[in-house]
Amino acid sequence: MRFALKVLWTLVVCIVSIPVSAQEEIIPITTAENAMVLKADQKKNLSILYYGRKLGNNNEYALISQAYKQTSDYTEVADAAYTPSGSRNLLEPAITVTHADGNNSLDLRYVQHEQKDLGNGVNQLSILLKDPVYNFQVTLFYKSYYKQDVVEQWAVIRHTEKSNVTLHKYASANLHIKAKSFWLTQYHGDWAKEMQSETSRLTHGIKTLDSKLGTRANLFQPSVFMVSLDQPATEDEGTVLYGALEYSGNFKTDLELDYQNNLRIISGINNYASAYTLKPNEDFVTPGFLYTLSHNGKGSASRKLQDWARNFKVLDGKKDRLTLLNNWEATYFDFDENKLKELIKDTKKLGVDLFLLDDGWFANKYPRNGDVAGLGDWAPNRKKLPNGIGTLVKEAANNQVKFGIWIEPEMVNPKSELYEQHPDWVVKQPQRAEHYFRNQLVLDLSNPKVQDFVFKVVDDLFSQNGELAYIKWDCNAVIYNAHSAYLKNQSHFYIEYMRGLYNVLKRIRSKYPAVPMMLCSGGGGRVDYGALEYFTEFWPSDNTDPLERIFMQWEYSYFYPAITSANHVTDWGKQPVKFRTDVAMMGKLGFDIVVKHLNEKDLQYCQNAIKQYNSFKDIVWFGKQYRLANPTEGDIASMAYINEEQSKGVIFNYLVNNRYGSGSIYPVRLKGLDAAAKYRITEICLYPGTKTSIDESKTYSGEFLMTIGFNPVVNAQRTSVVLSIEKIR
Ligand code: DGJ
Repeated sequence: MRFALKVLWTLVVCIVSIPVSAQEEIIPITTAENAMVLKADQKKNLSILYYGRKLGNNNEYALISQAYKQTSDYTEVADAAYTPSGSRNLLEPAITVTHADGNNSLDLRYVQHEQKDLGNGVNQLSILLKDPVYNFQVTLFYKSYYKQDVVEQWAVIRHTEKSNVTLHKYASANLHIKAKSFWLTQYHGDWAKEMQSETSRLTHGIKTLDSKLGTRANLFQPSVFMVSLDQPATEDEGTVLYGALEYSGNFKTDLELDYQNNLRIISGINNYASAYTLKPNEDFVTPGFLYTLSHNGKGSASRKLQDWARNFKVLDGKKDRLTLLNNWEATYFDFDENKLKELIKDTKKLGVDLFLLDDGWFANKYPRNGDVAGLGDWAPNRKKLPNGIGTLVKEAANNQVKFGIWIEPEMVNPKSELYEQHPDWVVKQPQRAEHYFRNQLVLDLSNPKVQDFVFKVVDDLFSQNGELAYIKWDCNAVIYNAHSAYLKNQSHFYIEYMRGLYNVLKRIRSKYPAVPMMLCSGGGGRVDYGALEYFTEFWPSDNTDPLERIFMQWEYSYFYPAITSANHVTDWGKQPVKFRTDVAMMGKLGFDIVVKHLNEKDLQYCQNAIKQYNSFKDIVWFGKQYRLANPTEGDIASMAYINEEQSKGVIFNYLVNNRYGSGSIYPVRLKGLDAAAKYRITEICLYPGTKTSIDESKTYSGEFLMTIGFNPVVNAQRTSVVLSIEKIR
């Protein structure tokens, strides 16, 4: 069966090159719905001929250039597959260099290409480009995922010139797209206000999305974006491209609407303060730029991306996760061993899998009793924890729950032994006053000794506490005064920092491949597919007000699968515990509350909800997600998760407007069902003592539910309604 599938994939995943004439070559990269068609012309210019819906007959791609009226000779380089600078191109380049002899010009011409079938519907095309004058080359890589319509693109830059070459710019990719108009959906935010979206029509010139924060790079602007073609895409209609850089550091994406109304998207590491000196024979490997294109609106694009993420990118994207009780908001820094032991008992009582000990457990000379001291000194605080972490791990095991721990190993408080012992390990300008973000500084991960230190923080925790089952990895500061006492070339700092971070994460993962780790950055300051290779989940925001979370989780869900979204029930917001728990269940459920403060009914609700969650979490984590009612467009938000077999699903519905008479006046149209099948809908997760307002005796065809819809009866008395839908056999 496996062999047969492989043969099938080899047949369908076709990257073939079509020699059009003796000198011209067409190279289509085809996936289930799309084709990116490259062309090497007679002069060996490699251009992007087309990116869009694929054709049935590959031979017809050669006719595309005739369909577009060429208005000037300039087009020859304006649609370059990887745009050099200093020679014939005057648009925004993908790459800019100074050669060993001081010359600033670069030209890149097609030499050859190669394609590999990597199995599982994945294909990798590499295209070698060389400068005809200088010993300088770029290899473009296109890794395409057939079923998911996703492409990851990156470049490897190399030269054999007599001495070093300076790379001033080194994008991962540039795209070239044709449409009548382009609509950009971008995101911005701040602490507790992550993922605020804006959509606007792109006008001529360059729109830049970027970050220069070094760490916590997404705090003000994440690298994910959407571009709708011809008109703003809706949930189910329109052509839309999703893009994201797989990188956790400074990024830059330029969207240039050129003089011929084509859109050029150039994305990569931000070259801000980062000219890179490339030695002869050294490979400069850019991070991947990820994109997918859908012709059926945003919903289909995000389902493709989520499927890709679970199958190919996120660590253990298809495996189980742990529900948890976190103590951050329950105690902040104020706890001791006895208090924690009580919380561990509460973990058991609540019915979640793991107790997560947050910030404040470490440091002795400068105890971590607030955020002003102790960061960097990773020995358990003897006053709070006289018997160390081990006793807590045991206590957890005695209560049949697991134990996890918070760390922030990239950071240091000036008030710490680490700072006293290794001032040269800290990122700071030697001649300037220190400038703090949350009273802390960043460690210089470009220094291999610092990498060893950070690795050891994690390694020691595991070797000393064998049963440790979970890590929350925080990152609360940006980089001010970027300077490394270790590096000779300061222009390499931002790049070497990220290389250092990824080195550490690789070492951790090769020794501890399966331990779940949460990617936290004072909220969602660092969420990207570069990091999610090492992490199982991320913390979207410190803002856990469930009303806010409905909007935030909605936006994140365009790009990331629900299994990666760590959602905790806390005391933020004014909504009842049912509302808070229901919102948190739309991802990976956790709690950060004082269980003892719950009244009897609230506790009962949480305990039952966790049991229910355990029965449907596989659908939320691995099923298909359908956005049914957008909270920005009406009184209610409605989100469904339907299993692959279309036989079971769960639908979350919330009131998001408090005005008089708000509610689900109209039915909500379902999606993703089998039109011919019959379904029954029941209400689950009912608050103790309440009854459902829906008629559970009726059955409906999939067609009815997707055409007419179903009313969840959301109103001021029923602000949160969770429905289960099941096919009748
Ligand atoms: C910021 C995180 O987002 C919080 O959840 C918590 O872990 C604190 N840091 C601890 O300092």
